[in-house]
Amino acid sequence: MLKVTFSSQNPSEGVLVMGVYQDRKFTPEGEALDTALGGALLRAMRASYFMGKAEEFLSILGVGPYERVVLFGLGEPGKISEAQAYDMGGLLVSHLLQTPHTSLNFVLKGVPQELLPVWIAFGMTLRCWQFNKYRTQLKAAQTIALQEACFVVPAPDASAKAFLEERSLAESIQFSRTLIAEPPNVIYPKTFMDHIESLKELGLEIEALDQAAMAQLGMGALLGVAQGSDAEPYLGIMRWNGGKEGEAPLAFVGKGVTFDTGGISLKPSLNMDEMKADMAGASVVVGLMRTLAARKAPVNAVGVVALVENMPSGRAQRPGDIVVSMSGQTIEVLNTDAEGRLILADALYYTHNRFKPRYMVDLATLTGAMRIALGSEYAGVFSPDDTLAASLEKAGNQVGERLWRLPLGANYDKELNSQVADIKNIASSGYGAGSILGGQFLARFVGNTPWAHLDIANMDFGAKGSARAPKGPTGFGVCLLNRWVKTLVG
Ligand code: BES
Ligand code: MN
Ligand code: ZN
Repeated sequence: MLKVTFSSQNPSEGVLVMGVYQDRKFTPEGEALDTALGGALLRAMRASYFMGKAEEFLSILGVGPYERVVLFGLGEPGKISEAQAYDMGGLLVSHLLQTPHTSLNFVLKGVPQELLPVWIAFGMTLRCWQFNKYRTQLKAAQTIALQEACFVVPAPDASAKAFLEERSLAESIQFSRTLIAEPPNVIYPKTFMDHIESLKELGLEIEALDQAAMAQLGMGALLGVAQGSDAEPYLGIMRWNGGKEGEAPLAFVGKGVTFDTGGISLKPSLNMDEMKADMAGASVVVGLMRTLAARKAPVNAVGVVALVENMPSGRAQRPGDIVVSMSGQTIEVLNTDAEGRLILADALYYTHNRFKPRYMVDLATLTGAMRIALGSEYAGVFSPDDTLAASLEKAGNQVGERLWRLPLGANYDKELNSQVADIKNIASSGYGAGSILGGQFLARFVGNTPWAHLDIANMDFGAKGSARAPKGPTGFGVCLLNRWVKTLVG
């Protein structure tokens, strides 16, 4: 974890990062520093294409007493959004990758946005996460050397206070990412559950329903998926009671398929390893609950995660099987690879039925079709509730984890009618709308609870890396839902 501090003292050596506005305009401190350095900074800008636009960087090595001065483009004064500032912090870390600097000082005095340093520090912290646990032969140049960032700001105490909550949010996002990054022989339902149990110390109430308990409740859809695996399934329940007693909770439900082979409808082997991330929805729910507890959010919240492994075996469910869900509705399983909706059918119904939530939001890596529809720019949001969908979109835009709403409706719904059961888990071949049908399936199991489904299958795991995360897990959704909760109740 990056150590972030705030100070009012300008540094006299080391690595100095300094904001420069659009068209190479210095801040007052920048001006003074350039003068002290005999105009070296201005000369360096003129010898490059650096203009001071947002997301531009220029490194100047060995100027005066400094090992390195990084000019950091700030764009137009006062125009950087919170989401963009996160990205700019992350990009600064990327800019310093493969350098040996362990600390830096970032001079950000006199900028019109008080919280800008805090936002940048948050983005830097996110980008500094790396998963090197199993790399025993790692060379220094393959790791991020940066350990400490000190921000020089007008009111260091106020900034430090504002950063406390951001720091714990970043920790929670990293907690989610690490769960996702761990290999599927290490993280399976039982060990995932152990990680949840470790959050008791933050004041979360934890329950684990095992196979027998779920059988008792009639969760035939979830158990049908789990039956092909030797790993016992769990339903993990986390409760944070920070709101008024008896007030209906916000509920978050996560798909936790710790490995998705497809089952008997086996997936092709190319990139199948990425299906270790098929528990990203559950990991994000855990990260969110962790951060709500850590910041003692004034809300009643419940997180429910359905943990199973989807394997082919002599005991695995077959295409054609009919299972009875906890809701009583029977499901014809035509494709064992459409397993996420089966486990969520029971998890959603259970959550609706037991907790009577004010809102219920599920997160799932549900359909590969999300990437076809939206690339990796937006996750999909599906909801019959316009207000709920809009409030989620708004929170996403604020923090830069953006959502795009896709439709649900009666015409899609009837495509899921089965000849032999109440519902089938895929439509007839050639119908299309794969992501919508996933959401439409879930809609039959949420009762009258106001509900939204986030399909994060295109956002949870980056093939390339982004401003905020290296290649691999992103933790997409923690930041967004934390903001959504905050906007709703604080
Ligand atoms: N976990 C997959 C969805 C997925 C695919 C996530 C690629 C991330 C990357 C899900 O269980 C699945 O297999 N969905 C099927 C549904 C289909 C059978 C209706 C899919 O997307 O092909
Ligand atoms: Mn699948
Ligand atoms: Zn899956």
